[in-house]
Amino acid sequence: MENGKKKIILSGIQPTGQLTIGNYIGAMKNFVRLQNDYETLYMVVDLHALTVPQDPKELRHKTLSVIAQYIAVGLDPDKNNLFIQSHVTGHTELTWILGCLTGLGELSRMTQFKDKSSKPGASINAGLFTYPILMASDILLYNADFVPVGEDQKQHVELTRDIAVKFNYRYSDTFTVPEPIIPKSGARIMDLQNPLAKMSKSDTGGTGRIALIDDPNIVAKRIKSAVTDSGMEIKFSEGDEKAGIRNLLTIYSNLTDTPVSELEDKYIGKGYGDFKKDLADIVVEKLTPIRNKHDDLMKNKDYLETVLRKGASAAQDKAWRMLSKVYRKVGLVQASR
Ligand code: AMP
Ligand code: TRP
Repeated sequence: MENGKKKIILSGIQPTGQLTIGNYIGAMKNFVRLQNDYETLYMVVDLHALTVPQDPKELRHKTLSVIAQYIAVGLDPDKNNLFIQSHVTGHTELTWILGCLTGLGELSRMTQFKDKSSKPGASINAGLFTYPILMASDILLYNADFVPVGEDQKQHVELTRDIAVKFNYRYSDTFTVPEPIIPKSGARIMDLQNPLAKMSKSDTGGTGRIALIDDPNIVAKRIKSAVTDSGMEIKFSEGDEKAGIRNLLTIYSNLTDTPVSELEDKYIGKGYGDFKKDLADIVVEKLTPIRNKHDDLMKNKDYLETVLRKGASAAQDKAWRMLSKVYRKVGLVQASR
C-alpha cells in the first residue's frame, strides 16, 4: 500500500470451453489469494471470446457460469469487483486509441496468435490479430499495478507494458505500467493425455483435461488414466519422458500447498498407482464444493445479476474517468454533455 491507497489487481478469463484446473492453479488461485490486500477487478472477457466462433446461447450461459465459478472458488463479491467486460463502455474505445500506437510487427510476434492462426482450418479474423490490444485496454483502463495470469499470457502483459510506455512517452505520464504475477509452480499445467501440451479449456475431445465443474467420477477416472512413463519412481525430474509425472506432482503440490520434495519423500517405495489414487481423491475433494456452489449459484440468476450490476457500475466509473483523460491527452475535443 502506498499513501493508504491499495494497489490494483486486474485479470480476466474467457468464457470459452470449461474452466480447468489449469486455469485454477495458474490464475484463479492467485485471484483468491490477492483479494484481501488489493483492490481487485476480475472480469469475464466475453468480447475476447468472439475472436473465435461462438454459439450465442452457449456464450451467454458460459459467461454467467464463469462468474459463478469465480465466486465458487472463493472470490467474495463484496471484496472484489466481478464483472463482464462487455458491460463496461470504454474497453473497445481504448482499444482503438491504443491500436493506433501498436505496430503490426509487435502483434505478429504474439505466440498465441501464431498458434491459433496456424491451426488447420482456422479462420483468421482481424479480432484474433488485435486481441492483445483489447487485453492491454482491459488492463490500462483501470491503471492495474499487477496482473495475475498463467505463463501463456506473459507475452501479452509485456506488450501491454510496451504500449503503456509508448503512450506515456508520447502524451505524458498517463498509464501505470503493469507487472504480471505468474506462479513459480503451476503456471503451465499440462494435458493429462499429452503432457507436452498445455491443458486447454477449449480443445475438443477433452480426456486430458479436468474442468472445475466436472462430475467427480470423471475427474477420478481422468487422473487415474493420466499418461506417465514406464519408470517407477515418483520424482520431479527434467526431460520430456518425465513430463507426465512432473505435471501430476505439480497439480498435487498446488492443490495441497505441499512442497514437491515433501511429496517425493512421502511416496518413496510406492508406485504410480498409489500416487494417482491419492491424487484423484485430492482433486475430487477440492472440486466437489466448487461444483456444488457453482450449481447453486446458477440456479440463482437474480443474485448473480446483483453481483454483476454492482461490479459493472464500480468499473464503469473508473473506466469513464480514464477514457476521458485519454481522449483529452490525445487531442479529442471533450463532448459537452
Ligand atoms: P484462458 O483459458 O486462456 O482464458 O486463460 C485464463 C487464465 O488461465 C490465464 O491467466 C491463463 O494464463 C491461465 N491458464 C490457462 N490455461 C492454463 C494452464 N494449462 N496452466 C496454467 N494456467 C493456465
Ligand atoms: N487474454 C487472456 C487469456 O486468454 C484473457 C484476458 C483478457 C486477460 N483480458 C485480460 C487476462 C486482462 C489478464 C488481464 O487468458
